[in-house]
Amino acid sequence: MTELKDPPALVAEQRPRVRTELPGPRSRALLERKDRVINGALRDWSGVPLVEARRAGYVIEDVDGNTFADLVSAWGAAPYGSHPPLVRGAVNDAWDRYGMEISNYIQSEPVIELAERLVALAPGRIARVAPTVTGTEAVEGAVKLAREATGRPMILTFLGQYHGESTYLAAANSTDVSTCTTANAQYVPGLVYAPYPNAFRAPFHRGAGPFDDTLYLDFIEQWLLRLQVEPTQIAGVLIEPVAGEAGILAPSAQFWAGLTALCRRYGWLLILDEVQTCLGRCGTVFAADLWGLEPDILLLGKGLTAGGQAIAAIMATDEVLADSHTHLGGTYAWEPAACAGALAGLDLLAGGDVLKNVAALDAIAREELVPLLESFEQLGDVRPLGAWVALEFVTDRATISPASAFQAAVHQAALRRGVLAISEDTKPLYRMQPALTMPPELFRWSCRQVADAIAEVAAEPPEEADL
Ligand SMILES: Cc1ncc(COP(=O)(O)O)c(C=O)c1O
Repeated sequence: MTELKDPPALVAEQRPRVRTELPGPRSRALLERKDRVINGALRDWSGVPLVEARRAGYVIEDVDGNTFADLVSAWGAAPYGSHPPLVRGAVNDAWDRYGMEISNYIQSEPVIELAERLVALAPGRIARVAPTVTGTEAVEGAVKLAREATGRPMILTFLGQYHGESTYLAAANSTDVSTCTTANAQYVPGLVYAPYPNAFRAPFHRGAGPFDDTLYLDFIEQWLLRLQVEPTQIAGVLIEPVAGEAGILAPSAQFWAGLTALCRRYGWLLILDEVQTCLGRCGTVFAADLWGLEPDILLLGKGLTAGGQAIAAIMATDEVLADSHTHLGGTYAWEPAACAGALAGLDLLAGGDVLKNVAALDAIAREELVPLLESFEQLGDVRPLGAWVALEFVTDRATISPASAFQAAVHQAALRRGVLAISEDTKPLYRMQPALTMPPELFRWSCRQVADAIAEVAAEPPEEADL
């Protein structure tokens, strides 16, 4: 094991710094060990060429002593930095008191209080909660509930979304055939798809836009409902209010007005998957609040964890949940310590400073990253929303073909400068997902490192494999 700095020293270090090549020698040795024993999907470490030694605040230190600004925040599950003291204290106290407990059978106060607090916070007519551990289970449960509540079999969902890794959701995802849906999704019935609104990569259009996302509703009405499925067969519409894994795509107010009108007309339940967007990510408590949406079923994950222990939730109206007989959750759903951590997270959010900070991060991304569109032909689009920003690199703006090699090179150049964000081989997206409470100056510094990284790569662009 490497010798570790104590967290205050790590945080006090003003700027992340990379001192070795990546991976450094200790990281390389560990990654090679990992490759001998871990599953194939996790064997490629070229994208994250380091092994974490510790995390403190908003900085990750690797086993070679390199430090990085954390623009991943545990994929959003650590929205208040690495170990927010309030959450840590609450989790530890509850664990001391209850240890591991099965909340599906034996009740405790943190479980009840969390359910009450979430119901008070949720939009519209949401009145009840069903506990789960992961976002995946929450979405699976929502599908079961929608079918139970309506007696209808089909779910209308959107191509390009992400909902989890279970067999059923690998189908509902349709995120990426090569990594998510292959050899499983094709055997799962009960789903009907429309494309997710995407202003930059609109289907049936070469290049970016023009864009009117009510066309997607026309497709549902004039094609799906006429040629594929009767409206009375559809139980619910499963949709992310902002599609995260698909690249931070936010549909228009007109789209939402049209979709909710279809739900009302045909008796479809509106199932909002807010696993990734809930509790502040988009600058509002729920992404639903951006448009005043009133879901019948609302799914929470990541942000609810608050950096404590794994927890997720299905929330729904009385009609859906009050008399439901559907079994949900399982052994680990809503352990008291996880609930206590989530409650502490809600306290942090209620303070008001968190959403102010998110607004500051949003403004910084707009100031630092959006203007780069003027300077770099290879930057196709920049989409900031709250504490979230996606950059798309393209070979040229006419075809908007993904520039995967360019993106990977930017990611590596940013890593060498001490910025660890999200870049995956299978997606034409570079995403920055800081903690909601990341200090604005660290986020601004990170954006500037990314800008420098783009300039470095643009000066000598790599060859694209598919060109
Ligand atoms: C929108 C959405 N739904 C569901 C999930 C699945 O959540 P989990 O990884 O907790 O199972 C994710 C995870 O990224 C997500 O982004």
